[in-house]
Amino acid sequence: MSTRHFLTDLDLTNEELLKVLNLADYLKVNPYALKALQGPQTAAVIFDKTSTRTRFSFATGIAALGGQPIIVNPGESQLGHKESVADTARVLEKQVSLIIWRTYAQAGLKEMAQYSRVPVINALSDDYHPCQLLADLQTVREHFAAQGNAELTGRSLAYLGDAANNMANSYLLAGVNAGMDVRIAGPQGYLPAEEIVQAAQQRAALTGGSVTITTDPQTALKNADVVATDTWISMGQEDEKAQRMELFSDYQVNSAALALAAPGAIVLHCLPAYRGAEITAEVIDGPQSVIWDEAENRLHAQKALMAWLLVESGRADEQTVA
Ligand code: CP
Ligand code: NVA
Repeated sequence: MSTRHFLTDLDLTNEELLKVLNLADYLKVNPYALKALQGPQTAAVIFDKTSTRTRFSFATGIAALGGQPIIVNPGESQLGHKESVADTARVLEKQVSLIIWRTYAQAGLKEMAQYSRVPVINALSDDYHPCQLLADLQTVREHFAAQGNAELTGRSLAYLGDAANNMANSYLLAGVNAGMDVRIAGPQGYLPAEEIVQAAQQRAALTGGSVTITTDPQTALKNADVVATDTWISMGQEDEKAQRMELFSDYQVNSAALALAAPGAIVLHCLPAYRGAEITAEVIDGPQSVIWDEAENRLHAQKALMAWLLVESGRADEQTVA
């Protein structure tokens, strides 16, 4: 049985994604039902960048699965400066049952996975934030399920703002993997890279999803069921703040933008948010925002992911996650 990793949104098939989301829904109601890390086994949770939600949701989720998290803050291990990724992987896989890593380069995660026989999970890189998208899709499903239709297939999602960042890429890939009509809007020069658009189109052809990349926010917003945005200043871009505030100003998610979406559209933001920049306080705190459910669902979605990866990799008994 080969080891399954979760490095990008496309590392799950459509069918696998739905299994993980179903498990996440189950865990939301039965938080301590699965003991995939019983022992307790340990899980490395390594941060090269800061975090609130990812840290707390993984630590809490690992504990609820019967395990023990080992959290490594930026600069606290030998990884990256004194020891290579490959050597770190060779050491960690003998100690821990999962490696969860927030880092800069996607290439580092690929290398970690290449040398690790325990599952490696991307807890955010410069290119993707796939764990966030599991929580986002769980949130979309549960919101529309309450209105009678939990199907993600065919739902439209508009993402506005910095369309070249990790969240834009993950909305595009995870959205089409779920069969959604994904519209990404940002200024010229800040749109998803060509290879990511191509990968999205290929997956969309399998799932019935569709891809629109545009510089026009109104095109993206028209009748969208879900409106999403993210900070205009990602971690590491703080020096570009003034320039970015100007650059993305036409892509703010505010009441006027929301009025173009479908009536009853919901709003997502992975947080942390700069109120008054990419999104107004009125929208975050308004009736269409499901942002706090989205933050909560990080816990349930990641627990489901961890349990599923452990079973698929032959490291947990199916019964513990049945
Ligand atoms: N959304 C998210 O990943 O938040 P943190 O950076 O606080 O982990
Ligand atoms: N794009 C943001 C996401 C934070 C969760 C960043 O990388 O800082």
